[in-house]
Amino acid sequence: MDKKRLKNLFQQLTVDEKIAQTVQLNGSLVAEYDVMNTGPMENLGLPEDLNIYEVGSIYNVNDFQKLKELQEKALESSRLKIPMLFMSDVIYGFRTIFPMPLAQAGSFDFDLIKEAAEVTAKESYLNGLHVLFSPMIDLVRDPRWGRVMESPGEDVYTAKRFAKSVIDGYQGEISETIDEDHVAACIKHFAAYGAPEGGREYNTVDMSNQRLFNEYLQPYQAAIEANTRLVMTAFNVLNGEPASGSKWLNRDILRKRYGFDGVLVSDHAAIKELIPHGYAKDTRDAAVKGLEAGVDFDMMTAIYAKELPELVKEQHFMELLDEAVWRILELKNQLGLFENPFRGLDQANTGEILTEKSKEIATALVEKSCVLLKNQGALPLKKDQKIAVVGPYGNSHLTIGFWASVSGNPKDAVPLKEGLLAELPEEKLCFARGYNMFDSYDAFGPLKAGIELLNGPIEAEEKLLTEAKEAAEEADVIVFTFGEQFLESGEGASKAHLGLPEKQIRLLDELKTCGKPIVGVLYTGRPLILTDIEDHFDSLLLAWYPGTMGGKGIANLLTGKANPSARLAMTFPRSEGQIPIYHAQLSTGRPLTSDHSDRFISKYRDESNEPLFTFGSGLSYADFEGTWQTAKAEKEAITFDFKVKNLTEIAGETVVHIYLKQRPASIVRPVRSLVASQIVSLGEHEEKECRVQLMIKELQVYDNYGNTIDSSGEYQFELDVLGKKEIISITL
Ligand code: GLC
Repeated sequence: MDKKRLKNLFQQLTVDEKIAQTVQLNGSLVAEYDVMNTGPMENLGLPEDLNIYEVGSIYNVNDFQKLKELQEKALESSRLKIPMLFMSDVIYGFRTIFPMPLAQAGSFDFDLIKEAAEVTAKESYLNGLHVLFSPMIDLVRDPRWGRVMESPGEDVYTAKRFAKSVIDGYQGEISETIDEDHVAACIKHFAAYGAPEGGREYNTVDMSNQRLFNEYLQPYQAAIEANTRLVMTAFNVLNGEPASGSKWLNRDILRKRYGFDGVLVSDHAAIKELIPHGYAKDTRDAAVKGLEAGVDFDMMTAIYAKELPELVKEQHFMELLDEAVWRILELKNQLGLFENPFRGLDQANTGEILTEKSKEIATALVEKSCVLLKNQGALPLKKDQKIAVVGPYGNSHLTIGFWASVSGNPKDAVPLKEGLLAELPEEKLCFARGYNMFDSYDAFGPLKAGIELLNGPIEAEEKLLTEAKEAAEEADVIVFTFGEQFLESGEGASKAHLGLPEKQIRLLDELKTCGKPIVGVLYTGRPLILTDIEDHFDSLLLAWYPGTMGGKGIANLLTGKANPSARLAMTFPRSEGQIPIYHAQLSTGRPLTSDHSDRFISKYRDESNEPLFTFGSGLSYADFEGTWQTAKAEKEAITFDFKVKNLTEIAGETVVHIYLKQRPASIVRPVRSLVASQIVSLGEHEEKECRVQLMIKELQVYDNYGNTIDSSGEYQFELDVLGKKEIISITL
């Protein structure tokens, strides 16, 4: 509806109706819906007179029949027929589950990432959802934190590109409204949730303003420039203020500095948590701080519902409430909900879910997200080889990761066994579980039977070990699947120790005695510590949590039907003691570039400074090299021209990286930082001329006051193709 009519509707709302609009509840509270709880569930103590079908939004109900009923109840309950807003934790796929974001980022294929987001938007739209609580774009440099899996990783450039690709895929080109097959994006978690001290979940974040402006806030700024319609606040304290109650962060930075004009939703109970943070003295004070910070939706607490009726008797708070409700109504209007409260639902069940096309896109993204970290010749597998596939992931559906189960179904996932049988002779393949993925299924509660059915009964470890060894003895090559099970990463999954479980190491040691080449396939939501076992592998493919088409994409890579091209979006440390460790680190005044024996150098006495696998690591079955041609600066952009050549007869793609080398500045710059990338596809022995443009504004550097510093002078850019580097200089 037009603004005038919307304003007229707004003006008819009573105070209670306005307050109800600012309340967001988990679907499990509204009825007997089987909804994933994503935070502490306690009795909220909602006011007796609050009709919960009049609240502004419900989240994590994902069944279109249930959403239809819910919207009908909402419209019956609302005097002015205001529709309810449906949001959900759809993080990397609705029903077609794509590789987890940390994996997708490593594809550096931002067009394909956008395509995947378009599929997710359409599937979500056809199930009646309006807003997705993604992309999560928290920069992460600490694998002890379990949510690194949801993030695009450690690098600013990568996170900015990822954010824009997903938002564009979700929202389409917004004119006045978000049209059919599209949904609103809700980026999260504002801000810097990915840098908790000790990697411990929800822990304190404290960093300089220059690091915020130059690194951790950059992806959010890019997302706001991409017109995200919502932002979710973070749980953590940032520089002494809880992010969900900070006026500086949410009004001065988010809305004034970055110009965000959409809806700000708190994270689960984050307004109430201002009290245990020691920031609000009671629930009234928490309501004051949340409203003054400009938080429009109070997710999963009764704080706004209980405290605002009294608070808004003061004009100042009435104005703040009006501001919040107006933004909420504008969002509902942008989604066309007043004209069609059942948007998407009226076309639901049209079969546009988990289509062959979406599976193709998912398979392609798996092939481009799995990182070939090592290969001494055992890959690709050959059709005449006898292959022992050892480990539970050899035949498991549980490859979609922690968040995907909010709307996805592991039953849809293609196990590796199915993928391999499609590519290799059955008689050449032998599958042995090797060890139990879970010691017990009890943690799954009501889901226990379903998970056990999907993943198989738990058997005696000794029996599994013996069977695995027998299979390995008979084989020419061993494929060892190992790593984390899906509950070990995601929210509430911080770990202080990142090594493999003892039973995986024991089995790997046993397999090593067979004297056959071992191909490792690592399923994990985070970088693990592989230092002591890395030498056991002839080849190592990092699968992450690959999603619905994982088994097919990985089998295509293992057999050479697809050629790996992914590069790590997050560093793999050698030990926990090195954390945080990432590629764009500063030099220090005593860098370890000279004599290692000198005591007074920035180094460890008991560990290398180098990671096991650095950001950007990733091999191909082919070999490529790049050579600079020219770098030219015009007024707003630098144009890089370079050549890339395939040195082999194996066709493939390579992800070219362009890094900026450290340069003198009043805010010191990283030794190297990624500033551009391009995917180059080459046939056998083919050479191509390539061009990449870099906007000069992307090189801006901010000081601790948020002002840009002088960036004129000489720049050195490094062309990096498969780790081979070449420098070119330019003066700006
Ligand atoms: C959770 C997560 C957030 C999620 C929200 C709603 O606690 O922090 O990412 O979107 O609650 O489920």
